[in-house]
Amino acid sequence: MKTIDVKLLNRPYKILIDFGLLKRTGQLIEPFLTGEKVAIVSDEIVWNLYGKILLESLNGIKHQVFIQPSGEETKSIKYFEDLCEHFAEIGLMRTDLVISFGGGVVGDLAGFASASYMRGVSFIQIPTTLLSQVDSSIGGKTGINLKHGKNLLGAFWQPKLVISDVSLLDSLEEREFQAGMAEVIKYGAIESKELFDSLLKYADRKEVMKDIVNIIYECCDIKRRIVEHDELDFGERMKLNFGHTFGHAIERAGNYKKHTHGEAVALGMIIASKIGERLGITASGCSDKLIDVLSQHNLPISADLDYKELIDYIINDKKKNKSGINFILLKDIGKSIIHSIDADDLFSLFERGI
Ligand code: GLY
Repeated sequence: MKTIDVKLLNRPYKILIDFGLLKRTGQLIEPFLTGEKVAIVSDEIVWNLYGKILLESLNGIKHQVFIQPSGEETKSIKYFEDLCEHFAEIGLMRTDLVISFGGGVVGDLAGFASASYMRGVSFIQIPTTLLSQVDSSIGGKTGINLKHGKNLLGAFWQPKLVISDVSLLDSLEEREFQAGMAEVIKYGAIESKELFDSLLKYADRKEVMKDIVNIIYECCDIKRRIVEHDELDFGERMKLNFGHTFGHAIERAGNYKKHTHGEAVALGMIIASKIGERLGITASGCSDKLIDVLSQHNLPISADLDYKELIDYIINDKKKNKSGINFILLKDIGKSIIHSIDADDLFSLFERGI
């Protein structure tokens, strides 16, 4: 088992990464049982596949299970309210524990409910997708969507423990696995040339899975370093958004149906590196290297995009921040910076052909 210690003042926690951890959940959560019971939050798909293993591991620990439908629509006020009401109904106390068992959606909802209910209940993350194991389960971002946009309501609420059982990745659909790989590639691009270069050597998913514990460890360790420096996302943490400014706009332009988050981020990373090359900030050839590694992992490297529409989305999204749009650009593979670009300059860059 690989372990990472996240050293946040007053809120340190461990990330555990290995095959077969789910069946050891009862034993692993033992040190965090300060109350009487555990509230488990999961979704239908995950629960049908793995709920039995989790329950068997609890070995007599008193628990209640709350199953949500699978999908982004549960990251809403309605489901948040229902979940908090459920917590109240079972008499969940501040000394009790919430376990989030699912991908990023379940983690964000259960995490935000934990942060809010009685002003904060301890929670443990058991992420079940590659994307949540390398990104959303660590660093304490929790939240739900509003009609006006994604993740507009939320809190920083760090988990007490993250249990990443990589065996659970076997049941992921191909596109979902690839979505996680886009985030893995992102970590290499922004912080580690070594990780980035190593990703070229895997012929297929089976090969990736042979090394998955190390791959997830490397990504989580990069995120740990960044979050330890900038927990509340005022500076360095923004680097984790490489490819996400255009990525979010691409997801939105396709009504969140055409591209998965990972596919949109893949395209967004290519656009950001081309912008950086055009501005003379990114070493030339970086976008080609990105294209190589993204296609190696079956992620899209081109799409029929309406850039004017995307830039309009981006400007509307960010216009509260009047001083320009913050982009994460690469200086080179493994080195990234935050760079502000004026909206007019962005349009003219695309008019001249990116
Ligand atoms: N997913 C980006 C962050 O945690 O800051």
